[in-house]
Amino acid sequence: MRVLLTGGAGYIGSHIAVVLLDAGHTVIVLDNFANSHPESLQRVQQITGKPVTLINADLADFAATSAALEDVDFDAAIHLAGLKAVGESVEHPTRYYRVNLTATLNLLDIMRAKDVRKLIFSSSATVYGVPQSENASIDEAHPVGVGVTNPYGWSKAWSEQMLRDAQVAWPELEVTLLRYFNPVGAHESGAIGEDPFGKPNNLMPFVAQVAVGRREQLHVFGDTHPTPDGTGVRDYIHVVDVAEGHVAALGHSSPGVQVFNLGSGSGNSVLEVVATYSKVSGRRIPFVIDPPRAGDLGTVIADPGKANRELGWRTKRTLEDACRDSWRWQDQNPDGFRTVRATGT
Ligand code: WQD
Repeated sequence: MRVLLTGGAGYIGSHIAVVLLDAGHTVIVLDNFANSHPESLQRVQQITGKPVTLINADLADFAATSAALEDVDFDAAIHLAGLKAVGESVEHPTRYYRVNLTATLNLLDIMRAKDVRKLIFSSSATVYGVPQSENASIDEAHPVGVGVTNPYGWSKAWSEQMLRDAQVAWPELEVTLLRYFNPVGAHESGAIGEDPFGKPNNLMPFVAQVAVGRREQLHVFGDTHPTPDGTGVRDYIHVVDVAEGHVAALGHSSPGVQVFNLGSGSGNSVLEVVATYSKVSGRRIPFVIDPPRAGDLGTVIADPGKANRELGWRTKRTLEDACRDSWRWQDQNPDGFRTVRATGT
C-alpha cells in the first residue's frame, strides 16, 4: 500500500517507516521537523535500501498541506504528527490544542477530499487518565478521559472523539486508534533512535544520556509509590514492536472505529530500568531520589489481549532488548542526529 506517514521523521515515526518499507509498502512522510531531524529519514533509507518520499509541510497548516499533497496519492494514513511532551503541554495548552487538534482535522478533510478511507491514529495510554484500581492492567473498555491530567492527554482523547464523529459522518472511513503505552529502545542497527530536543521528558532517553555521559545523574521521581520498590512501574514496549503493531493494523480491515492497546502487558519499575540499562551498557547510572512528579501514577500496565487476538500482533522484544538497542543507538550517536561521530570520512 501507499502510506502517508505524518510525523514520520520522529522517533516512533521513523521506526514505523522502516517496518513499512521492509514489509513492501511505499512510504510518503509528511513532517515539518518541529520535533525531529531530516537525518532520521536518510538513516531510514540506509537501513532499508528503499526510498522515502518526503513532504516537508506543517499538517496544522491546511492550505500548505493541501497544496503539498495535491498530486500525491495514497491508500492509507498513519497519523503521528503532533506535539507530545506532557509537561510542555501544561505550560503551553493553546499551542498543544491548536497543533494537535488542527492537524487531525486537516488530515481528515484532506483524506475525505481524496477519498482515502483508512486512518491509523497514534494515540496514547494517557487518554485513560487514572486507572480504576492502582495495579490492574488497562483494557480498551477502560473509560477515556477520566482524570486526564494534562492538555497533551486531552488533545489525544479529543482527537479520538473527532475521529469517531468523522467516521459517523463518513461511514466508509475506517479508523484504528492505537494507544501506545511506553515506547522505548531503538532499531537494532543503532542508526535511528530517540533524540528529544533539549532535556528528555521520558525516562529511557534520560537514562541513555546519563549512560553516555551527556547528563550527570538521573532524577528518580519518587520512591514511595505503591509498587514493589516504591518507584513508578510502566509498561515499556520496544519501539519496533510498536512499529510492527502499525503494519498489523494496516493489514486489518474492519468497518467503523477499532481501538487497540499497544503494550507488553508487563511492568517494570524505574530502578529495574536503571539496573537493566547499566547491565547492558556496562555504565554506572548515578541517580538521586526526588519528590514524585505531579500527576504521576504508581503503576500503568496495558492489557494487550485485544490486539493479540484481533491483530495477530504481540510484543516480541524484552525490556533488556530495548535497553541494549537504545544503548547501541546512544553510544554510536552521543549527540543524536545533530552530529555524526567522525568516522574519518
Ligand atoms: C516513566 C516512569 C516516571 C523521567 C509519558 C506520557 C505518555 C507517553 C509516555 C506520549 C515514571 C519516571 C521519568 C525521569 C523518572 N508519551 N521518571 N525520572 O510518564 O509513563 O508517560 O510518556 O504519548 O503520554 O505521559 O513516561 O518516561 O515520563 O516516566 O523517575 O527523569 O519514569 O515517574 O514512573 P510516563 P515517563
